[in-house]
Amino acid sequence: MPTQSMTARIQSRLGALQSQSLTRSLRIPAGIDLTSNDYLGLAQHSLVKQRMAEAVLQNGTGSTGSRLLRGHRDEFTRIEHKFARFKQTQRSLFFSSGYLANLAVLATLPEAGDVIFSDERNHASLIDGMRLSKARRVIFPHNDIAALKDLLKKDLLEKDLLKKDLPKKDQKFLVVESLFSMDGDQAPLRDYAQLCRETDTALIVDEAHAVGIYGETGSGLIEETGIAENVFASINPAGKALGVGGAFVAAADSTIEYLIQRARPFIFSTAAPPAMAAALDASLDIIAAEPDRRHRLLARSRYLRDKLQQAGRSQIIPYLIGENAKTAAIAEQLQAQGFDVRAIRPPTVPAGTARLRISVNEALTEAQLDQFCAALRKL
Ligand SMILES: Cc1ncc(COP(=O)(O)O)c(C=O)c1O
Repeated sequence: MPTQSMTARIQSRLGALQSQSLTRSLRIPAGIDLTSNDYLGLAQHSLVKQRMAEAVLQNGTGSTGSRLLRGHRDEFTRIEHKFARFKQTQRSLFFSSGYLANLAVLATLPEAGDVIFSDERNHASLIDGMRLSKARRVIFPHNDIAALKDLLKKDLLEKDLLKKDLPKKDQKFLVVESLFSMDGDQAPLRDYAQLCRETDTALIVDEAHAVGIYGETGSGLIEETGIAENVFASINPAGKALGVGGAFVAAADSTIEYLIQRARPFIFSTAAPPAMAAALDASLDIIAAEPDRRHRLLARSRYLRDKLQQAGRSQIIPYLIGENAKTAAIAEQLQAQGFDVRAIRPPTVPAGTARLRISVNEALTEAQLDQFCAALRKL
């Protein structure tokens, strides 16, 4: 039974959210999809559905334990090898969500005494992972390579002055998203790769919104920018363009082995249902066999960006409104007209930058995008 003091506190917290137009609601998908991350339509692809259903019928639903206990299966080993080949890394490790994968990487690899340089717009799961780490965190302005260079230099100088006679054993990390989830813009990955080479910094890249879409084989922006050799680890959530769920961390053999031994979100959590691995096997096959899907997605994204006069090229288009209440009202009116688009408000985005996060998928037609633009313009 809730105590009276806690009930009163919760009511007051909810009231504060309401007064700032920050309450969120659980809304079942309805109308034309301009909000999901199913960019390639794989969550509804018949082959993905069939492989997942067959796997459930053959081997059951839950994995029944942690991967290190009875939860491990051949399907996981196979999909991890396949994903590592796709990503051109030595090895990969499957987690039951991207959130957990980010916690695992950031709470395990950086240690006390290390420094993590983190883009100010990084996703909450990256931030929470860094909060679990004992390393110091330095936040730099979004995509600002000059500011990052200054901070790195300053940090090195301070270290030299402070620890003149001590052996250097601290490690620097740079943590970024390759395609930012709420802004739809790309990190300057080539510049980062060079800077990390020069300063012996470990580059960690979250490819949540890029994997499956960018690069010649669709493995992401690391592939497209040709920096695979300079990336220490990438996190690749599989519930977005890959249409299923879970996430792969891709890295060198020793890094993956270390995560298996030490990463608490891997060790102390029940493994994902094995059928997810079977479904992801189909997703990777489709991405290899049907490059048209990602080409169509980017063509549609360009089309909508042109119509909304938004620069950039990605499938995530932020339509900035600013005020929380106004953004929520516009989203509601669009929903009432049959367009499933959602309002994104703080703390997901900085205060004063509430927006519609429009996400394009390959199945949208130009006619639907025209109708959406007309509706948006009227509002
Ligand atoms: C950039 C980024 N990283 C990680 C995640 C977390 O992935 P998952 O949804 O699989 O937990 C998300 C999803 O919202 C994301 O946008």
